[in-house]
Amino acid sequence: MKKHITASAPGKLMLFGEHAVVYERPCIVTAVDQRMRATVEILDAPDFLLEAPDVKVTGYKKSMKDLGVGDIPKGAKFVEIAIKNFSEKYGLETGVKVTTKSEFSSQFGFGSSSASTVCVLKALAELSGKKLSNKQLFALAYKTVLDIQGKGSGFDVAAAVYGGTLYYVIGGKKLQPLEIDSLPLIVGYSGVKADTVTLINTVKQTSNKYPRVIEGIYTEIEKIVDLAKKSLTKKDWQSVGELMNINQGYLASLGVSTRKLADMIYSARDADAYGAKLSGAGGGDCIIVLAPDAKKLAVEEAIAQASGKVIQVKTNAEGVRIEK
Ligand code: MEV
Repeated sequence: MKKHITASAPGKLMLFGEHAVVYERPCIVTAVDQRMRATVEILDAPDFLLEAPDVKVTGYKKSMKDLGVGDIPKGAKFVEIAIKNFSEKYGLETGVKVTTKSEFSSQFGFGSSSASTVCVLKALAELSGKKLSNKQLFALAYKTVLDIQGKGSGFDVAAAVYGGTLYYVIGGKKLQPLEIDSLPLIVGYSGVKADTVTLINTVKQTSNKYPRVIEGIYTEIEKIVDLAKKSLTKKDWQSVGELMNINQGYLASLGVSTRKLADMIYSARDADAYGAKLSGAGGGDCIIVLAPDAKKLAVEEAIAQASGKVIQVKTNAEGVRIEK
């Protein structure tokens, strides 16, 4: 039996449908080529050890029988609960040491928690000789995210497991890969860290006060997602950009856009992008911009002018894999 295995999983960017996806509407997500890596090592002692320097967790140690018990540092939660869930479902006789390393900052909103959950589970499954299907892996990783956050559609878990670009419905009820080999996408980071659960709760409060209005917005977003799916597969970038702009309008109506995000978005549009919107929960994190190749530099400059930071990523990246 192997003593250690490394797995990696991609980060993600939401293209269309955030927030509405929490309420049973579809979304479109793409996996990005910046990856999270986890090495899982079998230990002789019945201990759990974690080194996750990217999220400031070093030298974390507890007994395997105490997994999930007591105060768990934020940066250790997903890995610890993933191992607990794996052990409860499939059995785990030994102690484990996990070392994570990310190619992207946990501040970007690329889904570092979900990606680390997925690669830890993948490596654990391989090490213990359990051949988990992607469906089983998704189910256990999504359970882990829900155990910790209580909320979320699982779109980020799906991107980490399956990769590519997916048309997705909460819990993996629909999971359709879209054939898109290239996407002229530019990503701008706002410099502000957003908290997804807080933003979901804020939208929920608005929805409790104006249920018919907000339900109506979700239904309109669903129409945008379905049109975007067609336009993306036809590479009709003009229409994809226009739909991004309309989706952004609805996200602003839900109250999740910010002045900073709006500044970056308007700057990018003024530089002749096809379209621009926030990506993810809002409140901060990143914007995505679709632009003709000839306008890429101008758009990147415009994002910088609005005090955003351009992040170079490729979309449609491979899902979770074992690293040699
Ligand atoms: C957050 O990146 C996207 C949301 O739709 C939450 C989710 O789908 O889990 C706001």
